[in-house]
Amino acid sequence: MLTAHKFNVEVIGFKHGFNGLVFNESLTLSIASVTNIIHQGGTILKSARCKEMHKKSGLLKAKGTLSSHQIDALIVIGGDGSFTGLLSLSKVWAGQLIGIPGTIDNDVDGTDFTIGFSTAINTAIRAIDKIRDTANAFDRVFIVELMGRHSGHITFNVGIACAAEHILSFENFTAGNEKQTLSSLVKGIEQSSKIKHSSHLIVIAENLWTGGTQNLANQLTHLSGVDCTLCTLGYIQRGGSPVAKDRILATKIGVSAVQAVLNKQHLVMTAEQNNCMKLIPLSDAIKHKKHVNSALVEAQANILALTAQTES
Ligand code: F6P
Repeated sequence: MLTAHKFNVEVIGFKHGFNGLVFNESLTLSIASVTNIIHQGGTILKSARCKEMHKKSGLLKAKGTLSSHQIDALIVIGGDGSFTGLLSLSKVWAGQLIGIPGTIDNDVDGTDFTIGFSTAINTAIRAIDKIRDTANAFDRVFIVELMGRHSGHITFNVGIACAAEHILSFENFTAGNEKQTLSSLVKGIEQSSKIKHSSHLIVIAENLWTGGTQNLANQLTHLSGVDCTLCTLGYIQRGGSPVAKDRILATKIGVSAVQAVLNKQHLVMTAEQNNCMKLIPLSDAIKHKKHVNSALVEAQANILALTAQTES
């Protein structure tokens, strides 16, 4: 908004995600609208999923709203679902379309980080540090389920940062390997009780374990003979005051998105790669999900290998 204002560009915000376009709900944004909000969680424009954008009728309604407001360019913050919506909209509307990667899942290809990811992992880390206090005090096994839909960026980063004894995510677990995984988890729990401390932390990605993570907790309790307590962190990962990294990333990406509009760019995502701002075709950004950094997966595997060596 502030960059647009500097270049005398008028800004309208559409409410509730794409629903604001479909149902024509908007507000004019001014400097006052964005003053003193950088430290706040949530969104002044609200957010929502929008089924209408999957239908031709919804796309045409969105086009009608954009035309009635005489919009030249639309900037959308979201993940691959939002970017797919932009590509569909481009079939019916001729204006410029720009995407900004914003999701706690960090699974958008072509950008090092998505806006919201750093805050989510910091929130989860702070919560787990507190859970560790109970785990240590009571010599307990805790299983903490983390968000990420079907990707393990949150789980792996949080697991490493909290020195979890086990990280279970899509990158190191294949469905069908439950039996093998359970036996290695039980071995880990037994090892923990023998060396230095007896608290034991397993972090796991949501939507991973057959029958849900509570089922894993029940299976492990049964097999190890130790109480394994599940804690689902859930939506606390999606809220709260943004950390510095997200505030700075959002500012850089916001400036870059307005510059992209002024430079007549179309169907691109503003991204950051190795500290440089880049424009990536939206079609490339949605081609596949960004992989979790293999060094993180290896680090965890090596830490576990080290624990096994210490034991033998
Ligand atoms: O994509 C962000 C995210 O928080 C995922 O991590 C999670 O699986 C999903 O959204 C939950 O969304 P909803 O509340 O719509 O089910």
